[in-house]
Amino acid sequence: MKFTFSRLSTPKSGVLAITATEGGELGSFGRAVDEETGGHISRAIKAAQFEAKLEKLLDIVAPHGLGVSRVVVAGLGKPGELTLADIDSVGGAIAGSAIDAKVQDLHIAVDSHDGLDIAAGDLAAHLALGAGLRAYVFDRYKTMKEDNGGLKLGRINVLTGAARQARSAFAPCEAVIAGVHLARDLVNEPANVLYPEEFANRCRALTKLGVKVEVLTPKEMEKLGMRALLAVGQGSARPPRLVVMTWQGRGRNDKPVAFIGKGVTFDTGGISLKPGAGMGDMKGDMAGAACVTGLMHALAARKAKVNAVGVIGIVENMPDAAAQRPGDIVTSMSGQTIEVLNTDAEGRLVLADALWYTQDRFKPQFMINLATLTGAILVALGKEYAGAFSNNDELCSRLIAAGLATGDKVWRMPLAKAYDKLIDTPNADMKNIGGRDAGSITAAQFLQRFVNDVPWVHIDIAGTAMNSPKTAINQSWGSGYGVRLLDRLVADHYEG
Ligand code: BES
Ligand code: MN
Ligand code: ZN
Repeated sequence: MKFTFSRLSTPKSGVLAITATEGGELGSFGRAVDEETGGHISRAIKAAQFEAKLEKLLDIVAPHGLGVSRVVVAGLGKPGELTLADIDSVGGAIAGSAIDAKVQDLHIAVDSHDGLDIAAGDLAAHLALGAGLRAYVFDRYKTMKEDNGGLKLGRINVLTGAARQARSAFAPCEAVIAGVHLARDLVNEPANVLYPEEFANRCRALTKLGVKVEVLTPKEMEKLGMRALLAVGQGSARPPRLVVMTWQGRGRNDKPVAFIGKGVTFDTGGISLKPGAGMGDMKGDMAGAACVTGLMHALAARKAKVNAVGVIGIVENMPDAAAQRPGDIVTSMSGQTIEVLNTDAEGRLVLADALWYTQDRFKPQFMINLATLTGAILVALGKEYAGAFSNNDELCSRLIAAGLATGDKVWRMPLAKAYDKLIDTPNADMKNIGGRDAGSITAAQFLQRFVNDVPWVHIDIAGTAMNSPKTAINQSWGSGYGVRLLDRLVADHYEG
């Protein structure tokens, strides 16, 4: 995808999008285009009773007097209420209509409207951001001509009176688009292709951007005592990996921020086997790790002024003669012992060692882990909000604000001593399941035992990372949830 920014003038081909505010009011450029068509556009707005509500589009085919094949009038709703996240969605909706029309060249004109007080450069950048996010397709395995031989959107050109400001506002957005697309690709890939070693190879590609990538083998993890993580992988023919990605955007002595991801490339449940229906979705059980990888890509590609580490534990959870059994007791890297009463509660075992390793080695400012950890978070929050569990109010409220700004929304859930008791067992330091109640919280309590009082947030993304509702900026099964959230958090509080 090519992104360009140029001055306001009527293009000669492709699709031209112009904006209107609620009631169907065109901006100054839109009115000029309308004049060129002899009033065709305003007549169409009237005839269709187009109200220009936010994200709504009016598609005008072969407008009189213009070279373009279509004019799309995009609704902005009430200009005083418009946020940057809304602009992303408008850009996404416009790109969606161009993709449906099989157009290669999309021109989006950023108009001036009364009452709209977002800088023209930011408007243009966010329209392009939304369009770029929408333009993602996962079609690597489509070999038939009718599926992938059709025309694809090749260029998004934003027409603006502030092209230079738009280009500099867009530069970091382009890095974020690439990070989100990478995360989506990783989640969408099937588990026969993306197993632990292959995931690590995809991470190695970040070296090009200046990220240092270390890959730990089972032997090395064994030496470190990561028996909780290794136990999850022992029933698989595909051995686990731990990938450590470091981005140094500041001086050596600056404490890093740390992101940790659950990377179960496939979760059968192990000996505590899952039911067959819907099990295919468990190829996405590495979405936490995908998010961390996409984030590291984004931070490095935009040369973020921060020291950041990404640590992902990558394993496949399979039933096999060598697999761990319910009732097994393992010793984690921290020295704490765990009675594994359900082999399907494997994500917390992987994270136990990844979290402990991260705080032990890096002494980070904070740790944020992401994991498709529990089905129970879907029961609590559905697919709109991810659940956040934290030992630090300031960090957690910053994260919630970043969620509202980007649309990757998070809702805080409780942690408490009383819940922590639910994972006590007579046989070891803890067991890996609580009772039937509060399943997402007992999972979080389990993780907290491995963070050693470092400021920390656990984000349970089982509802938001895959198979979430299609939106203007995402039509993909793997949503790429969390990349924009964490990039925003870093940009707003931990740079410069
Ligand atoms: N990967 C699953 C959680 C999950 C469920 C993610 C649905 C996405 C969609 C996790 O490993 C799991 O199996 N959790 C169990 C925990 C239980 C055994 C305590 C669950 O949620 O049922
Ligand atoms: Mn599981
Ligand atoms: Zn899992």
